[in-house]
Amino acid sequence: MGAFLVEGPCRLQGEVQIGGAKNSALKLMVAALLGQGAFCLENVPHITDVCTMAEVLESLGARVRFNAQRMEIEVNALQGRTPEHLVKSMRASVQVMGPLLARLGWVEVALPGGCAIGRRPLDIHLSGLQQMGASIALNGERLVARAPRGLRGADITFRYPSVGATENIMMAAVLAKGETVIRNAAREPEIADVQAFLNAMGARVTGAGTEVIRIEGVGELGCANFVVMPDRIEAGTYLLALLTTGGAGTVCSVRPEHLSPLLNAVRSMGAEIAVDGDRISVAAPKRLRPFGLVTRPYPGFPTDLQPQMVAAATQAHGRSELRETVFDQRFGYLTELRKLGAVARQKGQVVAIHGPTKLHGTRLEAGDLRAGAALVVAALAAEGQSLIHGSQHIDRGYEALERKLSGLGARIRRVE
Ligand code: UD1
Repeated sequence: MGAFLVEGPCRLQGEVQIGGAKNSALKLMVAALLGQGAFCLENVPHITDVCTMAEVLESLGARVRFNAQRMEIEVNALQGRTPEHLVKSMRASVQVMGPLLARLGWVEVALPGGCAIGRRPLDIHLSGLQQMGASIALNGERLVARAPRGLRGADITFRYPSVGATENIMMAAVLAKGETVIRNAAREPEIADVQAFLNAMGARVTGAGTEVIRIEGVGELGCANFVVMPDRIEAGTYLLALLTTGGAGTVCSVRPEHLSPLLNAVRSMGAEIAVDGDRISVAAPKRLRPFGLVTRPYPGFPTDLQPQMVAAATQAHGRSELRETVFDQRFGYLTELRKLGAVARQKGQVVAIHGPTKLHGTRLEAGDLRAGAALVVAALAAEGQSLIHGSQHIDRGYEALERKLSGLGARIRRVE
């Protein structure tokens, strides 16, 4: 188990290149299972979640080669039983259910793991698949889904716009008989990436990015090449690191429109933002203003930037308040943030942060991916040395974090 050693404080400055989106790449890899032949994905981030998903694909019979940011996937014969240890380490592996049910008529997955950030039931995924004709049973710790006569199109209304369920049902529906309609679908930009990839394979999907997605089933799908969209959460994390350290700099190769909820929040804190094509520059003001924010499904403020935003609030002048509505236990990192000196009071799903506080480096434990990122951001602004254990959580979603931050002037290195 590794750690990051951060020597603070520092004022970050410069440019940082943003990689491909984790939450798109993982789903595109899974979508390839619906097709046949040789796929090529470009701009795939080198993060451990992607490597775990590559193992999942290989365990199902696909062949995966991953070099630099280019991934080749060859799909021929497949089987539908995923290895338990891989699914347990990453919730996104539950996404194989839709494609495998569609392709094979059966699938068996272990109950998934992933970040420890609250109850993450699968009812929306499972009810959608059932409405399409699948029978689902729990066999010990494994979910067994069957549709021996194939899936059929259905008109499905989600009780909540779940990102994973939207993608799972979309993928199940592309090979189903007839039309599927998903109502109250999630509108995250990564879903539009999945739609574009599926359509490039020969599927007929429309509506991604809106609340209603329509999928006309087709007989079979071929293969496709695709470039993964930029990671808006990685970009947001670097923007918040620049802001929290009182710095100024630019994130490059991003789609600024995907970051609007964050940019609005950061502007309200007094930061200067300049957008130029696929680059966003931020300059911290002399005095950061506090904010009030609520996390919501897209186009709301993303829950995946909530912890980093709280880290930024420690340097704002006054009382900031943040309400988490997407996950029910996403404040576990506050204990660690307080060890740095942050004044943060939690009441239920709301945290109030009083700033500015002078933070002091210490030993910290990253409990999950985005919590880990927030601790790194806060440690960069803290006086002295911080040792952040649990780098394996951060490596799930950030490629070369220490190299990219060092490029911005941070003193950070990895220690074993
Ligand atoms: C995805 C992202 C994750 C992000 C989240 C919300 C990936 C790999 N992960 O996760 O980074 O934080 O979207 O933007 O893309 N829920 C149910 N029943 C279900 C499914 C979900 O109650 O069947 C609940 C969850 O417990 C959670 C909320 O819905 O409270 C949001 O979950 P969902 O949108 O499904 O997130 P994920 O797809 O797991």
